[in-house]
Amino acid sequence: MKKILFAASECVPFVKTGGLADVVGSLPQAFDKSEYDIRVIIPNYHAIKPEYREKMECIYYFQMDNRIYVGVHRLEMNGITYYFIDNEQYFSGVVPYYDLYQDLERFAYFSKAVLSALPLIGFRPDIIHCHDWQTSLIPVYLNTVFQGDPFFRGIRTVFTIHNIRFKGEWDVGHIRWVSALPDEVFEPGLLVSPYQDRSIPKPDWNCTMMRGGLVYSDYITTVSNSYAGEIQTPEFGEGLQDILKWRQERLWGIINGIDYNIWNPQTDKNIEAGYTVRTRKSGRKKNKIALQKELGMKENPDVLTLAVVSRLTDQKGLDIIDRCMDRLCGMNINLIVLGTGDPYYENMFRYYQGKYPDKVKAIIAYSDPLAHKIYAGADAILVPSAFEPCGLTQLIALRYGMIPIVHEIGGLKDTVKPFNEYEDKGTGFTFHDYSGDALLDRINHAYWVYNERKDLWDHMQKRGMEEDWSWKKSAEIYKDLYSRM
Ligand code: ADP
Ligand code: GLC
Repeated sequence: MKKILFAASECVPFVKTGGLADVVGSLPQAFDKSEYDIRVIIPNYHAIKPEYREKMECIYYFQMDNRIYVGVHRLEMNGITYYFIDNEQYFSGVVPYYDLYQDLERFAYFSKAVLSALPLIGFRPDIIHCHDWQTSLIPVYLNTVFQGDPFFRGIRTVFTIHNIRFKGEWDVGHIRWVSALPDEVFEPGLLVSPYQDRSIPKPDWNCTMMRGGLVYSDYITTVSNSYAGEIQTPEFGEGLQDILKWRQERLWGIINGIDYNIWNPQTDKNIEAGYTVRTRKSGRKKNKIALQKELGMKENPDVLTLAVVSRLTDQKGLDIIDRCMDRLCGMNINLIVLGTGDPYYENMFRYYQGKYPDKVKAIIAYSDPLAHKIYAGADAILVPSAFEPCGLTQLIALRYGMIPIVHEIGGLKDTVKPFNEYEDKGTGFTFHDYSGDALLDRINHAYWVYNERKDLWDHMQKRGMEEDWSWKKSAEIYKDLYSRM
């Protein structure tokens, strides 16, 4: 039995702000439980729904380093054991993340608490699989502070980059203070860039927590092949491209899957009418009308309905949507936006809703049920991201028979096959140049196919729905990786 611990800052169904939570929640389910004992550990945020918090049992508590409280709560669900690191001072907010300055301290605490708790709760993983910068100090602690303890000897680590844009960077002084890591890890080439200007006093050097995961873990993975290549370039590497190039042989790009039980148009309880590939036409029509009704839009199953379901941040290509909005709204389309994030983009979509009330519906909120209804009822999803490590919304869209319109980048490029009308091939519309014109050109093409070539639209929808974006294939690759360790 291989024992693996996933450490992360979010996990479905407990707490989610983006795709990280989907992955941490669903990947462990894809392994055979008779061969793999995969457990998950996250912070015990007060933001976790009461229905789960009430079921947790406190199995241990102690004072880490004789000064700071660590509680460990446990919950078993669907055959998986989840642990929650409890500390009111750090995790009692209504949201999982605060500002970066505070988060550095909170997640340094979390990372150390995870390791400190393991001997006490009686689970010794063979591998700790760490996700994103919030857990990137775990391999560092393991190789320094915990190194002398026989309990930890031989534990291997994998670090997965879900998004290199967020890397946990501050000055050495602050990170040394919040982590209490020994001085040696703050040498250039470790948590600090090798190109550090040494005339600056050391406490002021830039220190990057994510470097901990990249330098100290046994293997690094990221969530698509294309992104694995992109992050080795200055354009996408966020200054970390050199380490990634240096560790190239230990860097794997493994495409994400989605949970085919949660995202299943046949059994989805959130939607008006369940449907299969065979019944997609009638099912999707009912869902489209129900969606329009719920959102107070004119009921019309024949108008091309585009949607955005996204965190509203720079990453997501909202600036190029902005650049073509007026021209887009000159067409006979609807646009539904579901998202929250940067107030600038929230207001941008509110503005367009005000300007084009018959066409644009901006729901500035986070809503799981509504997201399901959009996937089942809208015709095409826009994912014009400037960069996209994997992207899950286009995969969910394919599963639901919604056509993706995407920028050819990262995981979008690896998952959406460009439509070719001459050969009747492909699963979505893709564009190369990151520009409003290129995006609009693809939307125009989609508009034409949707209105004039319903047969081609229909084939594309079927091909998309018949693809398999469950975890099946990617879990095999993770198994291969784990077995090498
Ligand atoms: P990222 O992790 O960069 O935000 P992904 O495409 O990997 O992007 O994952 C986004 C996930 O979050 C998807 O499951 C998507 O349905 C969901 N999501 C994003 N915004 C919202 C929202 N406002 N309401 C509900 N679900 C959302
Ligand atoms: C990140 C990325 C997204 C990816 C998700 C899950 O949030 O932005 O592209 O799908 O992580 O790996």
